[in-house]
Amino acid sequence: MNDHDASAPGAGEPREYLLRHHDGSQRRVQVRDLEVPYPEGRLIVSRTDPAGIITHANQSFVDMSGYTREELIGQPHHILRHPDMPAAAFKDLWDTLGRGEPWQGYVKNLRKDGSYYWVFATAIPNVREGRVIGYTSVRRKPSLTRVRECIDLYARMRAEEGRP
Ligand SMILES: Cc1cc2nc3c(=O)[nH]c(=O)nc-3n(C[C@H](O)[C@H](O)[C@H](O)COP(=O)(O)O)c2cc1C
Repeated sequence: MNDHDASAPGAGEPREYLLRHHDGSQRRVQVRDLEVPYPEGRLIVSRTDPAGIITHANQSFVDMSGYTREELIGQPHHILRHPDMPAAAFKDLWDTLGRGEPWQGYVKNLRKDGSYYWVFATAIPNVREGRVIGYTSVRRKPSLTRVRECIDLYARMRAEEGRP
């Protein structure tokens, strides 16, 4: 699936991108136009604390991210943020979780080597004694049709964010 702009180098060639996070921090990431297919029959699971810091990652999460578990635990979940994801998608996720409701959506995630993978994610608040102690996200294989729709939708959303 090729959803990058025509000025990108050849497929698989890394290019640098300056990612701007919602808190104003910036990070240089390597991006490659190379999709890694969702692994058949696997669920990709992670948990975070209330601030979105990764506290648990199952083996499929580790394998797909390209990081070691040690590199993931304790990091903000935006370690997987792909520049093609509109900020509004994550605002919707946090607003929804903040109301105590589950969130579902399509996410394009960035691997450590710059390649990417699409997931269909469900995130829920973990509540103990009426208090949110963190969040869990379970990802499954995405529908190809919906991914194609999201490629267009997210491009329009990025354009609205001034990030074509
Ligand atoms: C349980 C949970 C799972 C998340 N999973 C992802 C994920 O797989 N990929 C991702 O980019 N952001 C994920 N996020 C959202 C990130 O916390 C963050 O909002 C997003 O990456 C945008 O970060 P930024 O605005 O700091 O760039 C998740 C958040 C929670 C609470």
